[in-house]
Amino acid sequence: MTEVTHGLEGVIAAETRLSRVDGEVGELILAGYPLEELAPNARFEETLHLFWHGELPSSNQLSRLQSELAECRTLRAATQYLILASTDAKTSMMDILRMATDSLSLKTDSSTTPRDAALRVTAAMPTIIANAWRRSRDEEPISPDDDLGHAANFLYMLDGQVPSDERVRALETYLNTVVDHGFNASTFTARVIASTQSDLISAVVGAIGALKGPLHGGAPGPALDMVFEIGRPENTEAYLREKLARGERLMGFGHRVYKVRDPRAEVLAHAAAQLAASGENRALYDLALKVESVALQLLEELKPGRRLKTNVEFYTALLLHCLGLPTELFTPTFALARVVGWCAHAFEQLEEGRLIRPRSRYVGPTDRVWASPSREQESVA
Ligand code: COA
Repeated sequence: MTEVTHGLEGVIAAETRLSRVDGEVGELILAGYPLEELAPNARFEETLHLFWHGELPSSNQLSRLQSELAECRTLRAATQYLILASTDAKTSMMDILRMATDSLSLKTDSSTTPRDAALRVTAAMPTIIANAWRRSRDEEPISPDDDLGHAANFLYMLDGQVPSDERVRALETYLNTVVDHGFNASTFTARVIASTQSDLISAVVGAIGALKGPLHGGAPGPALDMVFEIGRPENTEAYLREKLARGERLMGFGHRVYKVRDPRAEVLAHAAAQLAASGENRALYDLALKVESVALQLLEELKPGRRLKTNVEFYTALLLHCLGLPTELFTPTFALARVVGWCAHAFEQLEEGRLIRPRSRYVGPTDRVWASPSREQESVA
């Protein structure tokens, strides 16, 4: 009988040119570039071009791509209304993002190519998030600014301030860092949907649903909450010991693939250190370093042999906080980076053209004899 691989751990289900994750040595290659090369240097639009077309863009291609994205940023009235109704109902930001992204189908028809849909969804997601965030605070949404790049425009739509180059660089480093990561759960979801030859927006909506779970993209908020709850370096050990003694997991630690420190944590820690260096977040950054070192020590002591190391979410939380983003927007911001990877995977899957359809092993009974309890009850009555 065929072995069951629970959680599909270690199963290679496709070939990809998009990213290579080596969890034993802690290495991430993004479309041919080591993470450490690409993330701190590329504009996010350059990364998008690299992922969708296999090469970095020329300056003409880059400006064309920037105008195409700018043209697709504005939301239809129906999408704006949906956001308003959702924020009135106090729906979570990820659920709003999922529903509003779905409503982008209102602008598609049979002539819409997968690339058209990918551009639309990538361009519109920052507007959806910023619009929802402002509505949730009873503030009027801010219209996109066509003169700003993708990352800068997102920050601008949140607070109406044109962001400094330093903040834009930090956000682009983050977006590049998390753009793709092998066959993670949301990417796999997107590929399964694309493999049925469904449409690209459906693939992205399914992926958003997978991303919001706390075991995938929902961890950075709780990771930062933990640092805030600890509050002072001297509280760290007692707090973490109690949490582990209660059988709770430390958010921001452990990974299905990485058994050494997640290389993304390294890049984001560096970006957070630069952003926090002189500002009001210096003390928080130092506290996070302390929490990380004590957590690693305790995980080694209490979970020996599990090789639980810092993952991307721990420093994501710190970096996004230093950028001034509220916790509620951490996972949505992750989504607006990862959507570029999801679309690239959907394109790759469409090229491959093979339906993803694994099998399951049935472990239920096989000898039941038909009798309906509800009908028996009816006849007694
Ligand atoms: N804190 C404490 N213990 C942890 C842990 C954590 N963050 N992550 C895993 N463990 C423990 C489990 O309790 C289990 O212990 P046991 O063998 O005594 O039962 C062991 O390590 C193996 O856990 P398992 O759930 O099989 O590992 P996994 O590969 O399925 O888990 C994650 C990967 C990411 C789901 C897991 O590490 C986790 O929940 N981390 C916290 C959430 C997080 O940061 N998510 C973002 C991921 S990028």
